[in-house]
Amino acid sequence: MNLPTEVRYRPYADWTVEEKEKIAANVAASPWHANYHLEPKTGLLNDPNGFSYFNGKFQLFYQNWPFGAAHGLKQWIHADSEDLVHFTETDIKLLPDHAHDSHGAYSGSAYPVGDKLFLYYTGNVRDENWVRNPLQIGAWLDKEGKIEKFDEVLIQQPDDVTEHFRDPQIFDYQGQFYAIIGAQNHDKQGFIKLYKAVDNDVKNWEFIGDLDFGGTGSEYMIECPNLVFVDGKPVLLYSPQGLDKAELNYDNIYPNTYKIFQEFDPENAKLIGGADIINLDYGFEAYATQGFNSPDGRALIVSWIGLPDVDYPTDHYDYQGAMSLVKELSIKDGKLYQIPVKAIENLRSSQETFGDKTTTGNCYELDLTIAENSRAELVLFANQKGNGLAVTIDTKNGNVRIDRSKAGKQYAIDFGVTRECSIDTDQTSARIFIDKSIFEIFINGGEKVFTGRVFPDTDQSGIQVLSGKVTGTYYELTY
Ligand code: FRU
Repeated sequence: MNLPTEVRYRPYADWTVEEKEKIAANVAASPWHANYHLEPKTGLLNDPNGFSYFNGKFQLFYQNWPFGAAHGLKQWIHADSEDLVHFTETDIKLLPDHAHDSHGAYSGSAYPVGDKLFLYYTGNVRDENWVRNPLQIGAWLDKEGKIEKFDEVLIQQPDDVTEHFRDPQIFDYQGQFYAIIGAQNHDKQGFIKLYKAVDNDVKNWEFIGDLDFGGTGSEYMIECPNLVFVDGKPVLLYSPQGLDKAELNYDNIYPNTYKIFQEFDPENAKLIGGADIINLDYGFEAYATQGFNSPDGRALIVSWIGLPDVDYPTDHYDYQGAMSLVKELSIKDGKLYQIPVKAIENLRSSQETFGDKTTTGNCYELDLTIAENSRAELVLFANQKGNGLAVTIDTKNGNVRIDRSKAGKQYAIDFGVTRECSIDTDQTSARIFIDKSIFEIFINGGEKVFTGRVFPDTDQSGIQVLSGKVTGTYYELTY
């Protein structure tokens, strides 16, 4: 939603109790709240931040402007979880309350150091002429939930980057802390800078080099770069804004992509043996994905279900955006697979044979098999007339197609109302998670993923099978 700058950057303390209550009441009136996905209490949720394991729990923050569905003065809001499925929002917030983050506590990451969690993030600072100075800064979160910001700037804007320099990700590689940061050069090309913590001191960062990951610079900015290690292989996850469609085809306003590598050579700032750039998600909205290697060895990721510069039907209710399910990564035969963490199965409260269930509460999981040589046409969020979210899985021609043109309130139609990708022409599996206004579809064990929103009309809660040989199970999900 477009709101004037004065509104979006109005100091938090100036919002009155009445104004805040009005916003909260408006949010509560929405018919589209998710049950088992994290949503903002008020305002806009965007990037996942500080995804980590600390103090016996998983930690997950998110970018938020709390006063409406717009990108304003951002803070981090904190939630934690024991199982990566149930997230509890706490009162901990990384507020834009320091001279070094005066215009927003922008995205970043976290890593436990000693008995504290180190938060590494971008302070968005603007001067009186609204010229931006992006600062890479830090804070400690202690076990009592107290945040203590560093007064020193950890990395200043280098000469070869524009004002677009942000989203530090700290990671440990062979016992050494490194950080990668998204950047734009003066030719308006996206690139990534690599730093290392001298003597592993997170207050002392030394530039190593511009990360050589085989990037072409066809994007104008790389947001939220993340390096995770999946089955021993480095995988770079990033959001290259404006990427040339000749390099990779995508329909969303901005893509979220990945590349698998064979090796990481930090001293030479090089990722070696890179495969092609690939879409992380084929759906309508999954962006700014953040990943980390958890102490139990898993490579875990979580995405913002939303996109920058898009208006959503929930904007009228003063909120926007949701967090995806947490997905675990693996590599098989050189391909990346994403699958929701196993604990999601604990939400299954009852089950039926797929096909028997025709009316639902739009809160369920489908675990399906589509036979070879079949064209399965399903309609989810279907009304009596069969209008809803059309999901076609064609194992004859090797294609999956999602069409939301008849699924409730329409938005972002300039970017198309369908999404598709190719699949092998074998028997195919599909795990589909539906949560009120969210779908996450995992094809063939998570080899291809479609994430997106639909904002159904009140009569759109059915499941219809129009054609095809589909078998499987329907699970009711209870949070
Ligand atoms: C990505 C992003 C980041 C930035 C944050 C601000 O969606 O633009 O690059 O740090 O959002 O909210």
